[in-house]
Amino acid sequence: MTIIQTPHRGKFITLEGMDGAGKSTHIPNIIKILEARGLEVVSTREPGGTKLGEQLRTLLLHESMHPETETLLMFAARREHIANVIEPALARGAYVLSDRFTDATYAYQCGAKGVSSDKIKQLETWVQGDLQPDMTLLFDVPVEISLARLASAREPDKFERENAAFFDKLRQAYLTRAKENPARFHIIDANQALDKVKQSVEQFVSTI
Ligand code: TYD
Repeated sequence: MTIIQTPHRGKFITLEGMDGAGKSTHIPNIIKILEARGLEVVSTREPGGTKLGEQLRTLLLHESMHPETETLLMFAARREHIANVIEPALARGAYVLSDRFTDATYAYQCGAKGVSSDKIKQLETWVQGDLQPDMTLLFDVPVEISLARLASAREPDKFERENAAFFDKLRQAYLTRAKENPARFHIIDANQALDKVKQSVEQFVSTI
């Protein structure tokens, strides 16, 4: 008799935070930790993660548009991402690490740009069904730190050129999301020495 073993479903980890919070720096280390456990890791990002998604990313990051258009395009890219990358990976037992996901839409398009959370919720239900991250690491820094880091970085994109009031709304929206979803969110104080931040990341990743 042939026994076909269905793999255990993988886990979905997302990284969130304001621009300048430093989340992307930690991606290689997270991949290393998970791979050392013998896991397959799929590292991806939003907006993006597919050929079409990356094309939409270019438009989203550089063209000015109505906040609701922006929301719809984010979810269009997300639909493609879930269907072609995230779901197949989780189904074969891989761990998916995404640099941003739907919490970013709640923070940027709802919290900072005023799109109604009810409309976002409807799109979320339509596009994701039951899919939610298993763990979300929120890299939190005070607004002044984030702005200072961005000022010394590369040429800013559309979102990175926003002002302090925008970043303030963004930070509050992220912290509110974390409070509303305490089981999956871990807040990381990203305003510490890089080594300390790395340690907190490692501690949380070891629990999934
Ligand atoms: P980011 O993840 O910061 O990448 P990089 O480090 O290369 O700049 O850039 C993505 C931008 O897209 C970021 O400013 C946040 C924005 N964004 C939204 O506004 N809504 C969303 O739903 C997502 C996924 C991203």
